[in-house]
Amino acid sequence: MKNILELSHVSYLYSEKTPFEMQALHDVSVGFEEGCVTGIIGHTGSGKSTLVQMLNGLLRPSEGQVLLNGEDIWRKPKEITSVRYRVGLVMQYPEYQLFDETVRADIGFAPRNMGLSEKETEERVREAAEFVGLSESLLDKSPFDLSGGQKRRAAIAGVLAMRPEVLVLDEPAAGLDPRGRQEILGRLQEYRRERRASVIFVSHSMEDMAHYCDRLLVLNHGEVLMQGTVSEIFCDAEKIRSAGLFVPQVATVADRLRRAGVPLPEGLCTVESVSRELLSLLGKGGNAQ
Ligand SMILES: Nc1ncnc2c1ncn2[C@@H]1O[C@H](COP(=O)(O)OP(=O)(O)OP(=O)(O)O)[C@@H](O)[C@H]1O
Ligand SMILES: [Mg+2]
Repeated sequence: MKNILELSHVSYLYSEKTPFEMQALHDVSVGFEEGCVTGIIGHTGSGKSTLVQMLNGLLRPSEGQVLLNGEDIWRKPKEITSVRYRVGLVMQYPEYQLFDETVRADIGFAPRNMGLSEKETEERVREAAEFVGLSESLLDKSPFDLSGGQKRRAAIAGVLAMRPEVLVLDEPAAGLDPRGRQEILGRLQEYRRERRASVIFVSHSMEDMAHYCDRLLVLNHGEVLMQGTVSEIFCDAEKIRSAGLFVPQVATVADRLRRAGVPLPEGLCTVESVSRELLSLLGKGGNAQ
């Protein structure tokens, strides 16, 4: 499969050449496959937010290259804005991403800047707001009067309104209740399907990663520890633990059952796949919920 985005030997130093210099990424090389949902996991401070800000050119590598469709995004620095439209980034604390007078103006900010007409902008605002589940009555409010969950949805809508080919989100579901998480993460998968886009997101929830991602990237102290399919990554529970992380609980249960002699395949890490396998062993078909 083709990589839509690629980091090649990327390093990043904050406050370079000052006494506060801090290396957040060391020689990171990784590919993000086109059309996939890729999850990024890693302990606090492992470099996840730094890495995602490289993907749309918000941060520029101290060393190495970021390739979008095989082209170095910094080849013509003056054209970096066009990369930001193609790779939409929802930051970790989206409340800082909102700034306009009304939610409507905020969501419409990027499409307007992209040169779309007022009519098209309005259409995109409505479509994006509806997509993330923000009711029309909220559009004329100040973004600062929204609840935390609504702010997050508004920030996501502002990026969706650009219709980016790659959607990058830093902890999009943090702080939402289980239903809100499910709704937002489900919507990301839907966006990928409808627009044939690629989605990259950061999360601390291994359960969410197992459920919503095709591939995973594991960072540890600013370096790539692992990259591969969800099953490949969660098969190596020990390595995951060495990075201060956990595999989904259901993967541990499946592993224990296998060791106790239950003939389950390796790499099961969602409730659905484990229950399907168990039911089929019990001769009850594979329609687990
Ligand atoms: N603006 C900054 N100036 C200096 N150092 C920074 C800055 N932002 C992040 N860092 C440092 O860079 C390293 C990587 O930070 P980053 O925010 O990318 O980690 P993260 O994996 O996103 O963490 P978290 O899970 O807490 O969001 C950390 O050591 C952090 O302290
Ligand atoms: Mg972060």
